[in-house]
Amino acid sequence: MIPGDFQFYKPPKNKLILFGVIGFIGFVIFIGVALLATFHISSWIDKPVIFAAEAPDQPIAFPHTVHVQELGLDCTFCHTNVTKGASASIPAVNLCMSCHTQLGDGSTEIEKLRDIHAKQDVIQWTRVHRMPDHVRFIHEAHVKRFSGSRQVVEKITDSSNQIRIIEAKVINPNAKIGETLDIAASGTCSICHGDVSKMHKVEQVRTLKMSDCVDCHRENNGPTDCTTCHY
Ligand code: HEC
Ligand code: HEC
Ligand code: HEC
Ligand code: HEC
Ligand code: HEC
Repeated sequence: MIPGDFQFYKPPKNKLILFGVIGFIGFVIFIGVALLATFHISSWIDKPVIFAAEAPDQPIAFPHTVHVQELGLDCTFCHTNVTKGASASIPAVNLCMSCHTQLGDGSTEIEKLRDIHAKQDVIQWTRVHRMPDHVRFIHEAHVKRFSGSRQVVEKITDSSNQIRIIEAKVINPNAKIGETLDIAASGTCSICHGDVSKMHKVEQVRTLKMSDCVDCHRENNGPTDCTTCHY
């Protein structure tokens, strides 16, 4: 053999096709795994990787500000199921009409409301918070757990009558360790929803991703087995 007379090994054509096919399948699997990992990680960490939640526009621009801050209505006046069951519930048009048959003449938003009422229709509110189908969330348990007469502590030793300073400060910024707070049911909402009374449009302020739920459960002696939150 003369030096330089070197030839690369040339695989036969059928092998080339085989390699191509294997390579392509590998590539598809890689992309699939990468996508899955992205979604999986995004459910654990704080910020959604693909999109950020934004306050959606509602079919009627319902202002919590006016109803809660100015009129002084309690959260449970409209979200009547929040102390009783899983969902908080959104009030029916009839409840709105108990005031707005009279109040709000000349407002285009109230006109929309009255139209819907006249047609005996329902308002198609856009959901702001939404758990995936495989997750169970129960309002009542959380509202009960964080309301009532509660001693402010650094670390929970008796979950029946204590609240951590971290949650207490959300409810009342002046809360101090050692004191006892008397917390109404509607005082607990801000722990997860922020100060809705100041929101012109409701937006999600807490991630409420799996790590968020599990961390809070751990810190508050809540249940952490998978079946607590998953069907
Ligand atoms: C305190 C409640 C809670 C507990 C306990 C919990 N999860 Fe989750 N889990 C969630 C929530 C909430 C989500 C949805 C997060 C999101 O918005 O994507 C989730 C999402 C998931 C997902 C879907 C991830 C994805 O890719 O979308 C899997 C899988 C999962 N959990 C497994 C588990 C396992 C296994 C356990 C037990 C070790 C467990 N979870 C315990 C609340 C919980
Ligand atoms: C006069 C009735 C009324 C009162 C009082 C009221 N809400 Fe609402 N709430 C609504 C209506 C109607 C919606 C649906 C439209 C929207 O999202 O703005 C809603 C939506 C919400 C949502 C978003 C639901 C979703 O889609 O995820 C949260 C959170 C909420 N309210 C919390 C509160 C809290 C906390 C209070 C007390 C500070 C309160 N609300 C007081 C009527 C009321
Ligand atoms: C307890 C009485 C009461 C109830 C119940 C009530 N509202 Fe109101 N609402 C008011 C008052 C008072 C105002 C302020 C009216 C004004 O400024 O003219 C108002 C203002 C509004 C406005 C702003 C109007 C504008 O253009 O400024 C909207 C929209 C509205 N309400 C929708 C609703 C909806 C939807 C419901 C049911 C989920 C509801 N309200 C339930 C009393 C009520
Ligand atoms: C521990 C956290 C937490 C607390 C405390 C909490 N919420 Fe929620 N809220 C959630 C989560 C999570 C969802 C989404 C539930 C789902 O999709 O199944 C939600 C959804 C809602 C909704 C819309 C859907 C529904 O369930 O009807 C309303 C309205 C609401 N919350 C109002 C309230 C009010 C009012 C309070 C206080 C009395 C409150 N929440 C306290 C976490 C919380
Ligand atoms: C602020 C802290 C906190 C956050 C955030 C929180 N939880 Fe909880 N949760 C608790 C505590 C504490 C308990 C135990 C309540 C009790 O029974 O005393 C609990 C109980 C529960 C229960 C059991 C209810 C029952 O009685 O069967 C479920 C289900 C649940 N949480 C789901 C979730 C999910 C899903 C999320 C996230 C979207 C979440 N929680 C976020 C503190 C929290």
